[in-house]
Amino acid sequence: MTLINRLIDWIDVRIGIREITRKELTGYLLPRNINSWYSLGSVLLVIFAIQVVSGILLLIYYVPDSGKAFKSVTDIMNVVPFGWLIRLCHAVGSNMMVLALLLHMLSVLFMGSYKSPRELNWMTGFILFVMVLGISLTGYLLPWSQLSFWATTVATNSANAIPVIGPSLVEFLRGGTLVGPPTLGRFFALHVGVIPAGIVILIAAHLFLLKRTGISTPPFGLNEANKPWQGESYRYEDHPGGIPFIPDYALEDLRSIFIYLACFLAVVFFDPSLFFPKEAFIPANAFITPAHIKPEWYFLANYQTLKIFPNEFIGLTVQGVAMTLLAVLPFIDRGRERHPLKRPLFMACSIGGILLWIGLTVWGHYS
Ligand code: HEM
Repeated sequence: MTLINRLIDWIDVRIGIREITRKELTGYLLPRNINSWYSLGSVLLVIFAIQVVSGILLLIYYVPDSGKAFKSVTDIMNVVPFGWLIRLCHAVGSNMMVLALLLHMLSVLFMGSYKSPRELNWMTGFILFVMVLGISLTGYLLPWSQLSFWATTVATNSANAIPVIGPSLVEFLRGGTLVGPPTLGRFFALHVGVIPAGIVILIAAHLFLLKRTGISTPPFGLNEANKPWQGESYRYEDHPGGIPFIPDYALEDLRSIFIYLACFLAVVFFDPSLFFPKEAFIPANAFITPAHIKPEWYFLANYQTLKIFPNEFIGLTVQGVAMTLLAVLPFIDRGRERHPLKRPLFMACSIGGILLWIGLTVWGHYS
């Protein structure tokens, strides 16, 4: 014990570790009425870390070559010791990350935490959301299965509907007129290099903003803190009399992380093929189009929207408008009230939007 204390003293003299701990951890106070929804951000950080580690391990055996990719993934599943576990963690984790992201966004939406002065927190988060969708889309192609090949063909095809630049954009994404070996090279580079680097930078920006604005006070219970700040000068939202991050809220974070891990591992061990339709086990064949090719569950609403409009351009425009409105939401919804029940218009629009999304997803699944 004394040895540890002496080691801490030694470090403390050089970098003031006790001061950092006091300021950033034990003395970092959070609102007294903070709730469990605020731990979803930490859950997301853990999921991202698991994705990075499992992804690096997969890279040891995965071969990004259209002639070898499918076999390398089959070998990871059947030959490499614990390869199946690493691959399932990565594939299931990507779906869970989208789910956790949606829940994090919903909590921020309903508690009005995106309002002034947290517009930038929302916008960096929104870019993260788009990047996570992008990393999932590009990862889908890598096993080079029938599912990968045809889902990517359908997804990239939709960009054709964009006037003027559409066809060149599709050719740029695919590296040719059709999905083929150059597409795999491009998607591989995006999936393991460009997008993860972008996500790391954006997470750093997201956390930096959180550090500068301070965490929001939930709009429940403490009435005085319900209203967002809309002053002209910078102000850090501190929480005198609040609860310390360490140990109190860190334990809450840990609880949410363990609940998440329990759900995640339950899928990995008890329903490993939940996210794998049968086309995922057949190697890609450009000459055989499977009868029912569907994107992942979180793209089903987009896919169905493209199908219900008479032409794809209208479908794409509607989705582009919806995404843009969501991205700039803090600049549209500028009211000071944050309590969800005191924002009837917001509640009507968001519940309507969520039901529409669920409806389109179910329709897309069964159509
Ligand atoms: C990889 C993705 C993401 C990570 C790792 C992440 C992480 C975090 C963390 C650790 C926090 C602080 C604790 C909390 O409120 O949960 C936070 C807060 C926040 N996040 Fe995210 N986030 C991500 C994506 C998003 C997305 C997609 C949005 C919305 C479009 C978003 C919007 C916000 C906002 C507005 C806050 C401030 C909440 C407040 O102060 O009450 N984040 N995020």
